[in-house]
Amino acid sequence: MALTFKEALKNRRTYYTISNESTVSDEQIKEILEHALLHVPSSFNSQTTRVVLLLGDQHKKLWNITKETLRKIVPAEHFGATESKIDGAFAAGYGTILFYEDTEVVEGLQKSFPSYSENFPIWSQQTAGMHQLAVWTMLEEVGFGASLQHYNPLIDAEVASTWGISPKWKLMAEMPFGKPTAAPGEKEFQPLEKRLLVFR
Ligand SMILES: Cc1cc2nc3c(=O)[nH]c(=O)nc-3n(C[C@H](O)[C@H](O)[C@H](O)COP(=O)(O)O)c2cc1C
Repeated sequence: MALTFKEALKNRRTYYTISNESTVSDEQIKEILEHALLHVPSSFNSQTTRVVLLLGDQHKKLWNITKETLRKIVPAEHFGATESKIDGAFAAGYGTILFYEDTEVVEGLQKSFPSYSENFPIWSQQTAGMHQLAVWTMLEEVGFGASLQHYNPLIDAEVASTWGISPKWKLMAEMPFGKPTAAPGEKEFQPLEKRLLVFR
């Protein structure tokens, strides 16, 4: 039975142990991304978010690029841990979603509405986060486990040249996903009384 929105939101966790099995068809994964792109809100309905889905060898290529980029900057004695994290928690998955924001649209809005100029890059970041949560939660709903990674901006140039991404698209996050092979770790919650104020 399908999860309710509240259940899917609660079950969405950071999964670092995933396999390269898929729980749904590639077409259904694409449909999840289309659903987010169509229905997640953006400031002024600007629809600044762009998404790239990498599957199979393309997904593996991304994590290879990340590994080789890090190899150049991580001290050799620490690289083993970096490599096993990338191989075990990210490359081991079924695919990776790249989240971008189109800075050309953001700059256009800044020119059109100068009084909000400073806000548009902030709102672009916020809409990016909204898309990430929506996709993360919908992946959970179909049985995938995902995590949110930020190897940008280190990998930006090589990723852009590998997949012919517009230089105007700014990479915001990488979301590797796959079938969970273990439950996520325990999660601590800060007291709600400190985080929610209600006045009536
Ligand atoms: C804006 C944002 C940035 C994050 N960046 C990373 C990251 O770079 N690497 C990572 O492993 N997890 C990252 N996370 C995942 C958080 O660490 C994780 O969501 C948090 O610890 C709560 O755990 P949960 O996702 O299992 O609920 C990020 C989460 C958010 C919302």
